[in-house]
Amino acid sequence: MCQEGRSPVFLQSERFGGTLMKKIVELKNISKSFDGETVLDNINLDIYDNEFLTLLGPSGCGKTTTLRIIGGFEHPDQGDVIFMGERINDMPPHKRNVNTVFQKYAMFPHLNVFENIAFPLRERRVPKKTIEEKVHEMLSMVMLNGFDHRRVTSLSGGQQQRVAIARALIGQPKVLLLDEPLGALDLKLRKDMQQELKKIQKATGITFIFVTHDQEEALTMSDTIVVMSQGRIQQIGTPQDIYNEPKNAFVADFIGESNILDGTMLKDLMVRFSGTTFQCVDKGFAPQEPVDVVVRPEDVDIVAQEKGMLRGVVTSVTFMGVHYEVIVDIGGFKWMIQTTDYVGEGEYIGLYIEPDAIHIMKKSEYSGLYGDYSSFSNELDELSDPGEESEDYE
Ligand SMILES: Nc1ncnc2c1ncn2[C@@H]1O[C@H](COP(=O)(O)OP(=O)(O)O)[C@@H](O)[C@H]1O
Ligand SMILES: [Mg+2]
Repeated sequence: MCQEGRSPVFLQSERFGGTLMKKIVELKNISKSFDGETVLDNINLDIYDNEFLTLLGPSGCGKTTTLRIIGGFEHPDQGDVIFMGERINDMPPHKRNVNTVFQKYAMFPHLNVFENIAFPLRERRVPKKTIEEKVHEMLSMVMLNGFDHRRVTSLSGGQQQRVAIARALIGQPKVLLLDEPLGALDLKLRKDMQQELKKIQKATGITFIFVTHDQEEALTMSDTIVVMSQGRIQQIGTPQDIYNEPKNAFVADFIGESNILDGTMLKDLMVRFSGTTFQCVDKGFAPQEPVDVVVRPEDVDIVAQEKGMLRGVVTSVTFMGVHYEVIVDIGGFKWMIQTTDYVGEGEYIGLYIEPDAIHIMKKSEYSGLYGDYSSFSNELDELSDPGEESEDYE
């Protein structure tokens, strides 16, 4: 499987502006089963100081279980959890320098905002004056200045989530675990909170390990994305890596829209698919090696039929605001193309694809699982979004 580690040198050059980063959490060969079902299958992952790392994957792929193992709420059947160089497999959650924010806020309804945030420090018998200073610092960070005496039950969902974040951060954990914390918020608020969480992470320098099934959220917020499927890590990389250089058909399909085609690598820099030979920028494959080819919908140009490298008929056009989503039937395979040029349904068009718009992937267990866009519908996409309603702690 495509598991990979990142060398510190890579981090130094690519993401962290020249500073060499320290490993905070290391998962080593972690496996976990429930009722004989493998839920995590040999997970290896290094998480660095100051990093905003996102576990991304469909429901059931093992994200929450991974987070719970880091938090100490679940024990791995095999493997080690290392925290700042120390093996902590047997350390209970409250002894770990880690805190968690859940989608369900678990607020104390009988306490006001101040007392909800102060709670972890009161438990530790921190002096009153220090508590006051710290709570105000936190309130300011989550932009709830002046909310001290408000009842938490009178706050909006977004405000309650900020209180939960302030409470989780007040004890200055080294690592904050966030399990789909924005899942219950409506789209606009969710986008605002994404920006704010990112700012808070940068301001505090605390390592955030964030879980989401929403690829757009992962792309906008993360330094590093870990794509998971069926209990295995499929790819680790920056948002740009994951989007531009997906490791296999699963990642290509899960992140963004993709046309995924069967192809054959004829030789370096030359690939054949859809009955046509294309120049590409990939090399290092065996001659005649079967491959998966991915072409992003925004990287295809629509041209006159006679100028096209591929030719076909437009079967549907959907206006998306900024662009049109056009489905084109090319010899029976339905491509998706995003374009700002209008074409009409039934029109015969040509497609032009630059070499660097073609990305070649090794065949994998996911090859052939993703078809074309013949059953494409935006409405279906929305209906199948497994967002949950928020429920407050009573
Ligand atoms: N305590 C448990 N007992 C039995 N099965 C569990 C338990 N926790 C998780 N699972 C199963 O493990 C799989 C992975 O779950 P989870 O880590 O919650 O996935 P995700 O957070 O990615 O949706 C799912 O099939 C889930 O049903
Ligand atoms: Mg989960």
